[in-house]
Amino acid sequence: MDKEKIVVQTSTYIKSRLSGEGSGHDWWHVYRVWKNAVHIAGYEQADLFVVELAALLHDIADWKFNDGNDDIGPQLAKEWLDKLGVDESTVTHVCRIIKDISFKGAGVATGMNSIEGKIVQDADRLDAMGAIGIGRAFAYGGSKGREMYNPDMKPEQHDSFEQYKNSRGSSINHFYEKLLLLKELMNTDTARKIAEKRHTFMEEYLQEFFQEWEGKD
Ligand code: ADP
Ligand code: NI
Repeated sequence: MDKEKIVVQTSTYIKSRLSGEGSGHDWWHVYRVWKNAVHIAGYEQADLFVVELAALLHDIADWKFNDGNDDIGPQLAKEWLDKLGVDESTVTHVCRIIKDISFKGAGVATGMNSIEGKIVQDADRLDAMGAIGIGRAFAYGGSKGREMYNPDMKPEQHDSFEQYKNSRGSSINHFYEKLLLLKELMNTDTARKIAEKRHTFMEEYLQEFFQEWEGKD
């Protein structure tokens, strides 16, 4: 099994599959998660092959765009990896990570059992924070026809995946429902440090946003 070649083939496949996706789940999101994950893995004892494959395949099919079905991603990933002749234990591990990774609401725990899963989850969550996270939130909201902000709609704490999935709030609410909670959810120390910085940046951004909203300079 030529691991390097499999990683390259997988990145080429995902790039062609996700190119042009306009909702914040494009190839470049996957690219950033992949790079974040490799960076974090450099500080941990982890199977880099599993980390890279899981990062590359983690958004192969997202529940948000498949009527809430979170089994399609792992299924597609398995088909792809089997075709490349990847060993069974790697395939099983990668698919498990893909199934577990997505954020399902503020009050819904998503456990990651392996260090490889923790790394990819951190990498994915980091990409929802900071300058890029802000851009993605508005891109996603826009793709769903959501308002940028509406002072009459208060943020909600979603205690179930169903509630989170069906939420119709503004993109600014999403900061309070997810983005500002991510800092506390980091699994690794490396990601936690990066998250601190991105968190501060988002807080400053929001301050500025509300100030401008009320016509202040
Ligand atoms: P990820 O793939 O990074 O785990 P998600 O799949 O949950 O993130 O969502 C993709 C991107 O869209 C993220 O940056 C996320 O913060 C953003 N997003 C998800 N739901 C909303 C929403 N209701 N309003 C605004 N942005 C959202
Ligand atoms: Ni993602």
